[in-house]
Amino acid sequence: MIDIADPRFGEAEQAAVADVLESGMVADGPVVRQFESEFADYCEADHAVATANGTAALVTALDAVGIGDGDTVVTTPFSFVASANAIRLVGAEPVFADIDPETYNLDPDLARAAVRDHDADAILAVHLYGLPADMSELAAVADEEGVRLVEDAAQAHGAHYDVRPWVPSATPGPSRFTRRRT
Ligand SMILES: Cc1ncc(COP(=O)(O)O)c(C=O)c1O
Repeated sequence: MIDIADPRFGEAEQAAVADVLESGMVADGPVVRQFESEFADYCEADHAVATANGTAALVTALDAVGIGDGDTVVTTPFSFVASANAIRLVGAEPVFADIDPETYNLDPDLARAAVRDHDADAILAVHLYGLPADMSELAAVADEEGVRLVEDAAQAHGAHYDVRPWVPSATPGPSRFTRRRT
């Protein structure tokens, strides 16, 4: 039996939590800034923004790219329910495109078909079980179809795509994803 999750909290983690509780700054503060900075470094990203949980992160990301009431977002049916929930929480409608049976991640061709069939506004890709979705193809689809592309990396901390870390660029517009040059 392989556990789906095996979180380990030792004395160091417990002491760190106790320090924050004792500081009285439990909603935000220097520890959050430090976490954001270290997590950004870990992901080789320019910035990181801490949120209370993964659903809040997805809602924030969708909102940040302007997805909301009346929009349609293509995503995978094979994910944790939070992926589709986040779409609903911003007022948009999730539409499911099937997965690639080899990777269990969103199939880019089927995502393109779903974008066209439903006149969708965005694609929400999920990197399931630590395996990144086919971001080159999905970015091409998003570019060509003129839709937003958001990534659910809740199961992919530290995952690499195409050998390099996959980092969303800060460039506004439908295609905001580039590969970091190494
Ligand atoms: C694929 C995926 N997306 C999003 C989430 C976010 O969930 P939560 O809001 O429970 O942190 C999870 C949590 O397991 C997940 O597996």
